[in-house]
Amino acid sequence: MKLRKIMIIGVGNVGSTTAYTLVNRGFCEEIALVDLNKELVYGHQQDLLDAAAYRQNMVKISLREANDCADIDIAIICVTSGLAQKSRAEELIGTSKIVANIVPGMMKNGFKGIFLIATNPCDAITYYVWKLSGLPRHRVLGTGVWLDTVRLRRILGEKMDIGPQSIDAFIVGEHGDSQFPVWSHSSIYGINLNQLDKMHLNFDELGDKARKMGFEIANRKHCTEYGIGSTIAEICQHIMTNSHRALALSCVLKGEYGYNEIAIGVPAILDQHGVKKIIELDFNTQEQQRFENSINVIKGYIQQLPK
Ligand code: LAC
Repeated sequence: MKLRKIMIIGVGNVGSTTAYTLVNRGFCEEIALVDLNKELVYGHQQDLLDAAAYRQNMVKISLREANDCADIDIAIICVTSGLAQKSRAEELIGTSKIVANIVPGMMKNGFKGIFLIATNPCDAITYYVWKLSGLPRHRVLGTGVWLDTVRLRRILGEKMDIGPQSIDAFIVGEHGDSQFPVWSHSSIYGINLNQLDKMHLNFDELGDKARKMGFEIANRKHCTEYGIGSTIAEICQHIMTNSHRALALSCVLKGEYGYNEIAIGVPAILDQHGVKKIIELDFNTQEQQRFENSINVIKGYIQQLPK
């Protein structure tokens, strides 16, 4: 396995949990932490080095400026506006400004890697980073609905008493209220969930539960961190191991599903260069309408981005 360098921009709850998860997974040689709060980030660095001391392999945990990025393979953007518990639309105002202050400088300083965006609203910010960076679209992706997909799988798994990894159900669309589960393509070992369902599960209710889970958690503990930290680490691992696995990620569309100039959660194959291929699903009529609705919601955010 090739060991490489990951930068985490924004070392709050999500950034620090991501760093801790990466330390424990042990597949990168350096985790570079970037944050304006120098005291906090020093504290996280030292705490993470204590954890890293238990590892067999060496992992360097450095403090850097975002512009010191020419040798970085994956730059994770997880800055927050401090409004994470409010609406995605409110978050956009704060986070788009922060991203606009960071990304052009990184490009001027020779960034040659992949941007992975977890900052909300994830799809609009993924699109914005793609625009600001001028990078080919395969090198800019967002965590998008992969976390929602994992939530759906574990919620279904709890009900059906089946491990979430064996459940091939997924969510597409916005990482937000307009997302939806694609039940027409959801199966276990090739058998459609509807066919398998001896328990007469209320699939709509389960989809709603997955959709609302981020807010359910944040309303109680003021952030989400473990789920998203594992999601980010998992995506990095697929890139670094060139896994060619299909995940539902926020990707910039170029004609797929009939759309351009937008990022939205769709299934995609990941390789060492980023998004290798977007998978186009054959939606039923209701799913097609819901996808179009989600596109319109994200377009609404994109229109509010600073020019
Ligand atoms: C969540 C955040 C990452 O859904 O948006 O947990």
